[in-house]
Amino acid sequence: METIRLPAASLALFILFFLFTNSASGSYPRAQNVTWKSTNFKTILTWGPEPSVDYSYSVQFSAVGQDKKNDPNCFRRSATVCDLSSSLKDPKACYTADVQSEPPRGETSDVIEPPYTSSPRFCPYKDTDIGRLDFKLEVSANKKTTLYVTDPLTAVFKDGRQLNIRDIFADDLAYKVTYRRNKSTGKKVHVSKTNVIELPDLDRGESYCFNVQAYISSRSPDKKLGELSQTKCSEDKDLSIFEEYSVGVIAGAILVILLLIAIIIAVTVICCNRRKNAEGRRSGKEGVPLQNV
Ligand SMILES: *[C@@H]1O[C@H](CO)[C@@H](O)[C@H](O)[C@H]1NC(C)=O
Ligand SMILES: *[C@@H]1O[C@H](CO)[C@@H](O)[C@H](O)[C@H]1NC(C)=O
Repeated sequence: METIRLPAASLALFILFFLFTNSASGSYPRAQNVTWKSTNFKTILTWGPEPSVDYSYSVQFSAVGQDKKNDPNCFRRSATVCDLSSSLKDPKACYTADVQSEPPRGETSDVIEPPYTSSPRFCPYKDTDIGRLDFKLEVSANKKTTLYVTDPLTAVFKDGRQLNIRDIFADDLAYKVTYRRNKSTGKKVHVSKTNVIELPDLDRGESYCFNVQAYISSRSPDKKLGELSQTKCSEDKDLSIFEEYSVGVIAGAILVILLLIAIIIAVTVICCNRRKNAEGRRSGKEGVPLQNV
């Protein structure tokens, strides 16, 4: 019995030791809060916590239904972000990514399956945010208002050319214009399929303020609208005085001016008369004795 027990005990110890060392290298903290952040197809994966010097992170990604690939730019690094824009080549595919906790770069590991956390599914075409649009505002000589919207560039390249959002969304992309009179808060909305937008039914000579945002009709309701642009206002500088002020105000102004003129005339007339009278009296008083001499 004794002779059998000893090797059994040392075998058990050996197994325990083996398990312990192995689980130690496999006990790197798992990544948490694995999150996609994506604007105009520039797509970044973020997570936490910051790793200690004892381990690093690697990122693998796969299109749904395809094999996992290592991302070459995010292999065993201590960063907690990974730019996957150039890896997610097909904007219309859906992807998941795994963040693996691994030994630091240069150290070997016999761990077959390192601990990892998977990201939510991400479909660039449906999910990437559309950043704010830039636009030019033009009021022509006949007071027609036209907006010229610039389609922002994306992080997607095709045949060496950088694509803009129109290249990718094609007919799915429209523009939502929100506008109001400069002096009021009542808003109106106009949706245009093209990036040269003529606005109907604007009052001539009024100043209006405009915002533009991308509108992608095929998307789910909470993802349809892009970021709101800056506000731009048209000018109302070449208004004639009669358009700018009501008849009552103009009549009032004329009345005030006439009154002022009347007062000035009245004051001058009264002053002159008084001075004449005074001079007349003075010359009268002084004249009498002279005549007497
Ligand atoms: C994950 O997110 C939660 C909630 O926002 C936060 O409390 C926690 O600190 C985050 N963990 C890491 C590792 O960033
Ligand atoms: C009204 O338009 C002018 C330009 O004509 C602009 O400077 C001003 O900020 C606008 N006011 C509002 C409330 O947007």
